[in-house]
Amino acid sequence: MTFSVLKCPNCGEEFSINRNKYTCDRCGDILDVYHHDMEYSTIAMKGVWKYKNMIHPEIPNSKIITRGEGDTNIYRSQRISEYAGIKNIHLKHEGENPTGSFKDRGMTVAVSEAARLEFNKTLCASTGNTSAAAASYSALAGMDSYVMIPGKNISSNKLFQAVSYGANIVDIEGDFDTAMADVKQALEKTRDFYVLNSLNPWRIEGQKTIIYEIMEKLKPDFISFPAGNLGNTSAFGKALMDLKSLGKIDYVPRLVAIQAEGASPFYEYMHGNKNSITPVRAETIASAIRIGNPVNYKKARRSIEFSNGIVERISDDEIMSAKRVIDRSGIGCEPASAAALAGVLKLRNSGVIDSGDTVASILTGHLLKDVSFMPEYKTLEVSDIF
Ligand code: F0G
Repeated sequence: MTFSVLKCPNCGEEFSINRNKYTCDRCGDILDVYHHDMEYSTIAMKGVWKYKNMIHPEIPNSKIITRGEGDTNIYRSQRISEYAGIKNIHLKHEGENPTGSFKDRGMTVAVSEAARLEFNKTLCASTGNTSAAAASYSALAGMDSYVMIPGKNISSNKLFQAVSYGANIVDIEGDFDTAMADVKQALEKTRDFYVLNSLNPWRIEGQKTIIYEIMEKLKPDFISFPAGNLGNTSAFGKALMDLKSLGKIDYVPRLVAIQAEGASPFYEYMHGNKNSITPVRAETIASAIRIGNPVNYKKARRSIEFSNGIVERISDDEIMSAKRVIDRSGIGCEPASAAALAGVLKLRNSGVIDSGDTVASILTGHLLKDVSFMPEYKTLEVSDIF
């Protein structure tokens, strides 16, 4: 029988899943969810929960809070292939999830766990998408959500979502990193809130399903995605470890984590000789990944090392140029998501990725998440067209 524990990736200490604390009592590292005797089997549910046996085998179905997230489409486009110089480039669109970003995959699992543990208040810090997802799933579960956001620094559309879903908004003077520090501080004082940031390892379990879905459909050589707080980077390596150890894949694709130049502490960490990450003051046009002190950097390092992965960084201009191509292809995405393609182009130009390679790029958020970048357009008269 599979059963789950919280396990320290550093010292191996195991804790019950019934406690509301996600750091190791012994060494302080952020815990993993670990499933003893995990088996690869899918069940007759849609999307994320199809993989229940690999993400939360023990939760009763009656506790699951779901909006049918996951099972997103994978697109190909000639325009994008030509731009990247890669014939087999596939874009998995996580913007198609119920609140418009990949966060829903982690949120369905974390909020279900909050329901299992009988919490009635949730808390998160966010650059926008986490707060939208947290607010929606908490409301669905009948819980009060509290979101800490740098109000001046997030897209008004994402704030619109959180407010509409009824979240209590805490407007933080500062940036995402200030808000995240406030959440951690709140945790020192009270355990009344269920924290929904990706330091909660159940979020990571849900986000693993992006990789399960990709590996069911494609045999990519590289999987690229934008990297901010490094929840996805952590989740994707863990998913590949699952699939490899269960014999579902016979090779490991290389993970490609892309950071914005102005918010690239993980790039510095992985390319330097440091034991811990050096926080930076983050600045980039891609507000979703404007993060200077990512909490999951140790788990993310494990993912990159396991997959012989790559950490690259790109400029805001490169992000916006890739975004224009994705938008004009008819697929569309928010700025941060376009980093996944911009990074591939950079690695193609430097020869790391070859034109014959198969690449899966993950578009993390929907085009409408951030409409502050209206492209130039001209209007026509009716008489101009007929
Ligand atoms: N792309 C989008 C659209 C995001 O919203 C985020 C993170 C990322 C990429 C980076 O993913 O943190 O797993 O490395 N958004 C956060 C938020 C942190 O609060 O919504 P990551």
